[in-house]
Parts: sequence; structure tokens; C-alpha cells
Amino acid sequence: MTEAMTDLSGKRVLLGVTGGIAAYKAAELVRGLRKAGADVRVVMTSGATRFITPLTLQALSGWPVRQDLFDPAHEAAMGHIELARWADLVLVAPATADFMARLAAGMADDLLTTLCIATETRVFLAPAMNQGMWRNPATRDNAAVLGRRGIGLWGPAEGDQACGETGPGRMLEADELVLRTARVLKEGTLGGVRVLLTAGPTREAIDPVRYITNRSSGKMGFALAKAFRNQGAHVELVSGPVDLSPPAGVELVSVEQAVDMESAVMERVVGCDIFVACAAVADYRPVKVAHHKIKKDSESMSIELTRNPDILAGVTALRDRPFCVGFAAETQHPEEYGERKRISKGVDMIAANLVGGDQGGFERDENALTVLWEGGCTFLPMSDKGRLAEALVQQIVERYEANSIEDPRSPPR
Ligand code: C5P
Repeated sequence: MTEAMTDLSGKRVLLGVTGGIAAYKAAELVRGLRKAGADVRVVMTSGATRFITPLTLQALSGWPVRQDLFDPAHEAAMGHIELARWADLVLVAPATADFMARLAAGMADDLLTTLCIATETRVFLAPAMNQGMWRNPATRDNAAVLGRRGIGLWGPAEGDQACGETGPGRMLEADELVLRTARVLKEGTLGGVRVLLTAGPTREAIDPVRYITNRSSGKMGFALAKAFRNQGAHVELVSGPVDLSPPAGVELVSVEQAVDMESAVMERVVGCDIFVACAAVADYRPVKVAHHKIKKDSESMSIELTRNPDILAGVTALRDRPFCVGFAAETQHPEEYGERKRISKGVDMIAANLVGGDQGGFERDENALTVLWEGGCTFLPMSDKGRLAEALVQQIVERYEANSIEDPRSPPR
């Protein structure tokens, strides 16, 4: 870890510590955050104080540790709402299954949950628990709910556990949490990450004035590009013809036909970390493009079509491929068809949506998505495409980071 990467000078981190054995690592975490230059205030749940003393974290943070929502002395110095406003980032490490459940339920029954609900800044949890508790459907559901609300989950990692078992549930190491905190505060969650997106329809020429296209507006792809950029990613957007301006800070490459989109993607995909295929690529194109306008001489005519390249399949087939996300526009059973597509296309994640009729999707400002990945799925309810894009990016970030942890050959960035 280089010093430049972990510079937290002037940054204010509110560290929540909840009651699990990993709470002992909070001491190292406070030291690491302080060493990087952060001003750290610690809030402990009563369970946490059974594993590590408030005095230890007070000595290391340089500030009294807060535990009680109704402590008149502390409330007089800095009330809980002020504390919630004070933080540039809230990190709860370790976050127990119980804490996640209370937060997911929207409870504010102690100081830490109250702060997490009151704060307008980003909240990250570093879960730590027995692997069975992490795998329990209640915890999985709570994690999904928290993710949908924009709360980031860092970890857990897999490995040996204090209880003697092995599996997912270990808290990320303090160094890793300091690194991630620095990255979010300096550059956004995706600082240093390269994202390539396709968006919009393609336009397949028949002759110089006519073409085949579809109803895609490009709105979802453009909203995703913006959401990725807001998280600090470097974003390149390869788009078919749309009536939209590129979000500030996003590199736009305009193309017309699928074959041009494919070339533009293949030229840029090397070294990219995340690829999102949002474009509604025409499946077929005319075999021959007439040089001049076709005259209406005959009563009928036919156009011979040939298959277009599958751009997403081309990217997933690469040896050193990025984390790949595809879309599936379905008129029925989005979960079932989406899952089939996820497997057949070999992508890491599929965002399936219903199109046609009164549903969201093409040409609409709103949409709803069923997001599927290996071993998991979540539903992002109907909302405007800007909000939906933010929620989807959140899901992508989580899976992307989890993949980096699961695959030690590609360490988290
Ligand atoms: O096979 P289908 O068209 O339903 O797959 C949809 C997904 O594949 C979308 O993510 C779309 O952007 C991508 N795709 C592509 N190139 C094609 C067709 C689809 O990248 N020729």
C-alpha cells in the first residue's frame, strides 16, 4: 500500500464497531486510519464493548468513544445528528448479522443505527460473522436490501474463522479497509477502475437513406455511464445513434452499425475492468447495402439479412476479460430467461427487464430490473433510469469487488 493511495488527511471517518470477535481488529483499523491522516471518531454498540474496551479505541483515536444515544454529556458536546453530519464516510467494522438486520429493518434503537440512518454521507459495512450466519437466507436478504439502499458491503473474505470453521465471513483486513476508505474519499468507490459501456440502438443501412433499427433510446446506458463516473470510474461509452448528450467527464464514441460498435469495443476493451453491454444491437444487417436509393420499381422486394456479431459474447470470450454485465430485454419471465442468458452468454451479471406493453424499458424514462449473478439475484423496483442506474452500479460494484476477493489472482484495486 503506497502512501499516496492511503492519504486521508483532512478526512473525517466515523467508525462503528459492533459486537463480534473481529472487533479486536478495530484497534488496528483506527491506527491505520489515523496513520493515513484521518480524523476518526468511534461509536461502539454495547456488544462491541464485550470484545474490546472503549478505552483502547479512545486512546487510539484520540477522542472519547460514543456508546449511548441518550448520553447528556456527549450530546451536549456533539449531538448525534451533528456527528452524523460531521462524517465524510461511515464505516462499520465489524458489522455483525444482528447489526445488518437492524439496519435493514430501518431500526434506530441504538446510537450506531441512528447515525447510519441520519447520515447523508456514504455508509460502508465490513461484515464479519460465522460462515453459516453469512450464508443464512435472512442475512443474504438483509445484505441485498442494504445494497439496494446504497450501503456498500466490503467483504466478507473467505478463510479460517475464529469459531474453527472455514468459509465466507471473515472481516477484510484493516489495511484493505483503510485502502478502500481512501479510494472512496479521494476518488469515489471506483477510482482507478476503467469501465466500457455500449448503449443505444444500432442502425443497419439498407441504402443511403434507409436503415433497420429498434426502439432503444440509449437512456439507460447514458444513465449508467453517469452513475459509474459519479463513483470515480474512468468511463468510455460506445453508443449508437441517440438524441442524448454524453454526461460530463465521459468519453463518447459514436457509431452507427453493429460492426462499427464491435470494432470500437474491441479496440478499447484491453485493460478495461468492467464491461457493460447495454446497447440494443440489431441481430441482423442487410447482406448488401445499395449504393444508391432503391427505387420502388417492383411490387414486392426482399432484403437478405445476415447475423451481426454478438459483441458481448466476443468480450466474454477474451482470455483476459473484464467483469461482464449484459442486459436481457424480455416480454415475459425475465428471471427465468435472464438466468438462461446469463449462463449461455457466460457473463458475470445479467440485468433483465420487461419490455413492451405498459412496462418500462425502451423509450421510457422508467424501468425495473431483475439482476442475476451466480448464486444470487435481486430486484430493483420501477424507478427513473437515473436512480435505477445508481442502484445497478451499486450491485455491479459489490459483485466486482467480491469477485476480486474470491479470485486472489486479481486483487481488489
Ligand atoms: O442475445 P440478446 O440480444 O438478447 O442479448 C442481449 C445482451 O447482449 C445485451 O447485453 C446486448 O447489449 C448484448 N448484445 C451484443 N451484441 C449483439 C447482441 C446483443 O453485445 N449482437
